Amino acid sequence: MTDQELIDLARAMQERSYAPYSGFPVGAALEAEDGRIFTGCNVENAAYGETICAERTALVKAVSEGVRAFRRIAVAGNGDDYCWPCGSCRQALNEFSPNLTVLAANGTGSFLSVPLSELLPHSFGPRNLKK
Ligand code: THU
Repeated sequence: MTDQELIDLARAMQERSYAPYSGFPVGAALEAEDGRIFTGCNVENAAYGETICAERTALVKAVSEGVRAFRRIAVAGNGDDYCWPCGSCRQALNEFSPNLTVLAANGTGSFLSVPLSELLPHSFGPRNLKK
């Protein structure tokens, strides 16, 4: 699958977004090492702090299906700026795939591709807890 195809899947997931408070729909498409794709959208809540981002929706869907290794994630938003994963999502993705590639798309359809390690340098992860 091309980067653009993965972004198209993320973009389509904006339709499923539940974002009545921010009005900022986000879609994500997470590609596993085995080629399977897990999609997600942001799901907001009247208790704002209970909101889950699109990336973590996709991640928990995958992990709950027994999939733990990933190659790329595409994230699509409508803003002028690229839709970068928030800090919580960077940490959550790093847990399973520190070598992940992040494709961040903006509202005009442009995107940038960067390694997760660049978005979360000197990360704390599972290896830090090994004796
Ligand atoms: N959001 C995501 O889903 N992913 C991101 O990477 C950034 C932020 C969502 C959370 C909230 O529903 C809305 O965008 C505004 O912050």
